[in-house]
Amino acid sequence: MTIPVLTIDGPSGAGKGTVSRLLAKQLGWHYLDSGSIYRSLAIAALKESVDLSDVNAIVAVAKAMHLGFECGDELVVKLNGENITAQLGLEQTGNAASIIAVLPEVRAVLLQKQQDFKQLPGLVADGRDMGTVVFPDAPFKVYLTASSEKRAERRYKQLKEKGIDANLTRLTSEIEERDRRDMERTTAPLSMASGALFIDSSELAIDAVIQQILKLIQ
Ligand code: DC
Repeated sequence: MTIPVLTIDGPSGAGKGTVSRLLAKQLGWHYLDSGSIYRSLAIAALKESVDLSDVNAIVAVAKAMHLGFECGDELVVKLNGENITAQLGLEQTGNAASIIAVLPEVRAVLLQKQQDFKQLPGLVADGRDMGTVVFPDAPFKVYLTASSEKRAERRYKQLKEKGIDANLTRLTSEIEERDRRDMERTTAPLSMASGALFIDSSELAIDAVIQQILKLIQ
């Protein structure tokens, strides 16, 4: 029996996480937040004081790490049994994840861990290369983006709401630097999969994005 997969790729802050989680819930499908796998590896590497450009050391950490995902209202991630959820969303974690994600050897080790999420009754997979590399045969593909200014504004609001001090200009330039790194790397760069539905969420509410994607599936 074929297992349906919906891939949602796009740059950071476009709303992929929120949209994917809501869709997975609505469809009753599993959810893969592939960024959290790269983020968890970055946390594991930083904990072990591994140099982020030391390929062999990062690959060793990737092979040894055990990740547990508990999907309730909020995604809880455990690294070797330790709850690391609070560190996952930090800017420094995302930036470190983007740096190690450039390494092809690292991506190769993480590939199977991601493909293992494909299980009945279906999967919503969110990331950068879900439709191009990890699930190239997925029947439903979306590329979700928004302007870097809008993405930085949303991130700024989220951080402020959590009581975390943030600087909009710095957030915008970090987002643009991350986009560049994710799009310009040689292996599995962020790009739109052929046949993907393109959605620019700059001026769209989450619900409107979800409706467009549900139409694609139904
Ligand atoms: O989606 P995110 O912000 O949690 O991802 C963090 C970083 O991980 C992102 O900047 C690049 C990397 N990543 C990747 O290379 N491929 C993926 N499928 C998902 C994330």
